[in-house]
Amino acid sequence: MSRRIQPAKNITGGLRLPGDKSISHRYALLGAIADGETTIRNYAPGADCASTLHCLGKLGVAVSRSQVDTETGEPAEELAIEGRGLRGLQQPEGMLDAGNSGSTMRMLSGLLAGHQFRSAITGDDSLQRRPMKRIMEPLTQMGARVTARDGSFPPLQIEGTALRGIEHRPPVASAQVKSAVLLAGLLAEGETRISEPVQTRDHTEIALAQFGAEVVRGPRTTTVRGGVALRAQKLAVPGDISSAAFFLCAALLFPSSDLYLQDVGLNPSRTALLDFLCGMGAQVKVLNLGENCGELIGDIHVTGGPLQGGRIEGEMVAALIDEIPVLAVLGAQTEEGLVLRNAQELRLKESDRLATVAENLRRMGAQVQMQPDGFDIPGRQRLAGAELDSFGDHRIAMAFTVAALAAKGESLLNNDAAAVVSFPGFFEQMEKVAER
Ligand code: S3P
Repeated sequence: MSRRIQPAKNITGGLRLPGDKSISHRYALLGAIADGETTIRNYAPGADCASTLHCLGKLGVAVSRSQVDTETGEPAEELAIEGRGLRGLQQPEGMLDAGNSGSTMRMLSGLLAGHQFRSAITGDDSLQRRPMKRIMEPLTQMGARVTARDGSFPPLQIEGTALRGIEHRPPVASAQVKSAVLLAGLLAEGETRISEPVQTRDHTEIALAQFGAEVVRGPRTTTVRGGVALRAQKLAVPGDISSAAFFLCAALLFPSSDLYLQDVGLNPSRTALLDFLCGMGAQVKVLNLGENCGELIGDIHVTGGPLQGGRIEGEMVAALIDEIPVLAVLGAQTEEGLVLRNAQELRLKESDRLATVAENLRRMGAQVQMQPDGFDIPGRQRLAGAELDSFGDHRIAMAFTVAALAAKGESLLNNDAAAVVSFPGFFEQMEKVAER
């Protein structure tokens, strides 16, 4: 399906965003192996988090939904997950399907490795092209047998076993790999320690502590003790800052924008976006800072104004990994542009995001100089309305909707439905705040 997008004058109003995708996956997975019923409010509505629930259902986990009254008087949907206890998942019938979700496949594999049955997990065409060796190696070291097409690609066949704890130093910075190992560690004998090359999002570590796991954290190192029963929790998921990014960047493209986002997750391992925007001169304020289930949460107020441009490299890449496509769109319209380096990981996402960002920007008449590990996007480029494509990647669909709002003339976005992977109501929400 395609969607026509008209340019906007500014982005103004107030919004509440759907629940954080990363946190939702983790709450569901931990709830599934805890003792008792875990409830989750504001669970991410996208297809990715539905894939996690679907797989858990096939593993014998009962999941139900109900409407509940909240303190604010607004009804909310609450998910209830009937925990099966440590090592309590059931052997699934047939292949598990993670859809488009790398998080589901990688993190669930950590749990499957510690269950003494055979299982297989696959995904859509995009997921079948994504590397899994990075989780296969540590899980094999822990004692599981994991095989894959060509040694790295889904479907994965997992023969779970009684795992033993390991020390692992992943060569790539990946929160999914870290989480797969920590989840397997919960089911292993002894301690499992993971030391990351660069700090990545720490929602798993926070959720583990919340569920009563024995977890010890040091700088870039986390140790978990296996065999400790988890306690069911009452949880609420904050708004997704990676979804907020599309609205913040859209607002920053217009001098007269004034946007207020409520209840956004502000975990410091995810807020490099706000620092980066402020570093370019953006007017971004955080208000009503609080804490919920160990995660920081607050409101964000942004107003439009000129931006200088910036450079993303080194440790910043992992911290901004999901925001880079929309920052590239913004970068083209800053004073000095955007330089990106050390971002080879972007080629291994739902699409090759270095290539798909460059392709769409060029279709809009912008200049982009490609590098093997990034790109240079000169500033002060006025984008022209064009025929764009999501290339089946949700973040590309949303980033180029933002680009189209600031373009001269109408754009056509092909394969716009990709946005449902993380944000089913994205286009409607954007329409609410885009003034024309
Ligand atoms: C995620 C980690 C990141 C990120 C993805 C979600 C997570 O992936 O890009 O959208 O929830 O742990 P990698 O671990 O592959 O960097």
